[in-house]
Amino acid sequence: MKFKVFVTREIPKMGIALLRKNGCSVDIFNADRRPLKEELLRHIRGKHAILCLLTDKIDRDVITAGLPALKVISNLAAGTDNIDLEFAAQNGITVTNTPDALTDATAELAGALIFACARRIIESDDFTRRGLFKGWEPMLFRGADIHHQTLGIIGAGKIGQSVAEKSAGFNMKILYTAHARKKDFEARTGARKTTLQKLLKESDFVSIHAPLTQETRHMLTRKELSIMKPAAYLINTGRGPIIKEDDLVWALKNRKIAGAGLDVYEFEPAIHKDLIDLPNVVLLPHIGSATVKTRETMSLTAADNIIAVLHGYMPKYIVNA
Ligand code: GLV
Repeated sequence: MKFKVFVTREIPKMGIALLRKNGCSVDIFNADRRPLKEELLRHIRGKHAILCLLTDKIDRDVITAGLPALKVISNLAAGTDNIDLEFAAQNGITVTNTPDALTDATAELAGALIFACARRIIESDDFTRRGLFKGWEPMLFRGADIHHQTLGIIGAGKIGQSVAEKSAGFNMKILYTAHARKKDFEARTGARKTTLQKLLKESDFVSIHAPLTQETRHMLTRKELSIMKPAAYLINTGRGPIIKEDDLVWALKNRKIAGAGLDVYEFEPAIHKDLIDLPNVVLLPHIGSATVKTRETMSLTAADNIIAVLHGYMPKYIVNA
């Protein structure tokens, strides 16, 4: 075998098969947990490529341990905030990701959280299982409307735009911040670009789809959460540290907002202990892209990115050009 690849966790097998078919020997970390730093350092040594997860911190030490063989860091994710992109680039290492594969699945999960919050799905399910349903009642589990309500999308990249498209089908009015890449986005969805302040003030649902960067870390603190409507819901399927979690707990407890639907957390996998006890939050274990088909496509895409770099071609998804 010409190339050596370290895969940091078991992933859908088609990606592994593709690597093997293309001249790679594959070392898969086979514990049911993420590798510790010293394990990353040990396994990356002498490898030409690492296929890693968003839970693997690929910092200077790990990259240095991979030199001089390491040519490509292939993240099985859209976000690459777990990787020191600059240091990788300085050392001639290509970083790749798997964005398109997960756009719809993640947008669908944001939609699921909007519906779960608005229609109190989790509370209602729990109530029903506990045998408390005694028949139709006019006042039982009244939630919030979704149709004709305003959805504010923070970060209208691929996923944000997909959420907008799907939500427009439910007759939601769309506001958004930041770039819209598709030319006809506004025409198709009726979306209007606005400032973060206005978006927070006018939206009934606010959904986060910006990447985690220096600029977006703690973009939402007490100050911003206080601008939101008391009847509004905050949805996060992006990255946890975009919201200051302590401040979110404060906003939820003090009814500054009505509720939140979270798939990601500031100190993941740790979750603020008060969130666990709050009835007005829906908590998921970072499953935005977790459908069978999406994870298969991500596995193939991550493998394909590695093969391209190792064979001297331009990979389809390059992050640090
Ligand atoms: C998931 O959070 C991803 O970035 O792919």
